[in-house]
Amino acid sequence: MRKTIIAGNWKMNKTATEAEALLRGLLDGDSRTDKAQLLVCPPYTALETAGKLLKGSHIALGAQDISEHEEGAYTGDISAQMILTLGATYVILGHSERRQYHAETDQLVNAKVKTALNAGLTPIICVGETLEQRENNETESVVAAQVKGTLADLASDQLKNVVIAYEPVWAIGTGKTATPEQAQQMHQFIREKVAEKDTEAADLLPILYGGSMKPKNAADLLGQKDIDGGLIGGASLDADNFIGILKAAR
Ligand code: 13P
Repeated sequence: MRKTIIAGNWKMNKTATEAEALLRGLLDGDSRTDKAQLLVCPPYTALETAGKLLKGSHIALGAQDISEHEEGAYTGDISAQMILTLGATYVILGHSERRQYHAETDQLVNAKVKTALNAGLTPIICVGETLEQRENNETESVVAAQVKGTLADLASDQLKNVVIAYEPVWAIGTGKTATPEQAQQMHQFIREKVAEKDTEAADLLPILYGGSMKPKNAADLLGQKDIDGGLIGGASLDADNFIGILKAAR
């Protein structure tokens, strides 16, 4: 049985005070289930508040990025150790917005994945094609290269500790969701690519779907064989919507 993960990527939203209100809404709401791991990834500035509130709860904490370096003269960067000490156990890496606005490459993401794993964090590695790439029939080649590049040189025990999120760029924040069939096809494809490296790790690998997942479309997406959860942006900023998606998973 693979783990189901319902993860909220808050992106650059919520001050620490606003984060507290949202988290209280989740903790006080109907968010308890053994069918899925609930995870929130607030901005760095709300991690400490979130870590204190979520300590000992059923909701896990993650960050949205880390540096590939352990420490040192890297102005503005945040290390794996810094987020770990605030209670984070997951980190999103290689999100398309980091790739687009901060020119992150598969090679850099791969270095961050190794840093995260060495620190004991679970990386959620994002892959996905742009609309142009899909229209040019490059979806599979682009995603295959991202999977290969970001997982390069990982040992088999490390591969068993990663999560992948398939996030078609054209579906992020656009209200356009991949159809359950489109998403399932790509999730199966990603699992096959990982199986070429290690079949056991591929079987265990949680592959989350991301891109305009909402309470109303979540059940169809999460019902697909190779869709093991969601990485949710907009709909994770509201407790009722996020819990609505969680309910679709159970
Ligand atoms: P939306 O759910 O807002 O489309 O964002 C998806 C996403 O990018 C999650 O990482």
